[in-house]
Amino acid sequence: MKQDQLKQAVGIKSVDFIQDHMTVGLGTGSTVYYMVEELGKRVQAGDLTVNCVSTSQRTWDQAKKLGINMLPLDQVDHIDLTIDGADEIDTQFQGVKGGGAALTYEKIVALNSQRNLWIVDQSKQVQQLGAFGIPLEVIPFGHQQLLQRLEAENLHPQWRMDDQGQPVLTDMHNYIFDLHLDQLQHPHLLADWLDHQTGIIEHGLFLDIVNTVIVGTANGPQIIE
Ligand code: 5RP
Repeated sequence: MKQDQLKQAVGIKSVDFIQDHMTVGLGTGSTVYYMVEELGKRVQAGDLTVNCVSTSQRTWDQAKKLGINMLPLDQVDHIDLTIDGADEIDTQFQGVKGGGAALTYEKIVALNSQRNLWIVDQSKQVQQLGAFGIPLEVIPFGHQQLLQRLEAENLHPQWRMDDQGQPVLTDMHNYIFDLHLDQLQHPHLLADWLDHQTGIIEHGLFLDIVNTVIVGTANGPQIIE
């Protein structure tokens, strides 16, 4: 099975976790795209009534077009369940996100959710985090100085550019740096250090956040709890 088919299968399967009248957090990315399409179908068919919040403008626009009831995060008093993709997940359910540059909104929504479900194809499963890189959202003011500081710490930062060689911008018009670390022995230590660096809005280490994962395999979606 192709990677895209695995993403589609887990995206569709994950909608079974959404119950009527839930408030649902919608993640971002190509796997979440399939989840939102399926949710839209069930909403249009009258099978589900939900309120949703979004982790990016992209997902908001897609969901709105499908007729899903969307609310700004600050207008909901709780989130029952958030469904999101990931770039890496290890055997302890620690993960890396931010490949789609939506990590800050994704983390805010995740931390405010009662339950977090990740949907991934099996290429995202790793023994140890790090090979994908660790995305950081950084503010433009002082970004060169921050780049130098990260280099001095041997964190191998790379400023993320788009296909036209222009800086990738987040929904908040910030930049993305990716730390190229190969293997990360102590994710909590790095997360703690990054949390204290001025100029870094958020990092892509999602630690102790996920409750359930659906992995796309050739034998179908597998639920791990
Ligand atoms: C966006 C993300 C995505 O969830 C992550 O990059 C996975 O994306 P995809 O489902 O396209 O592989 O963290 O910031």
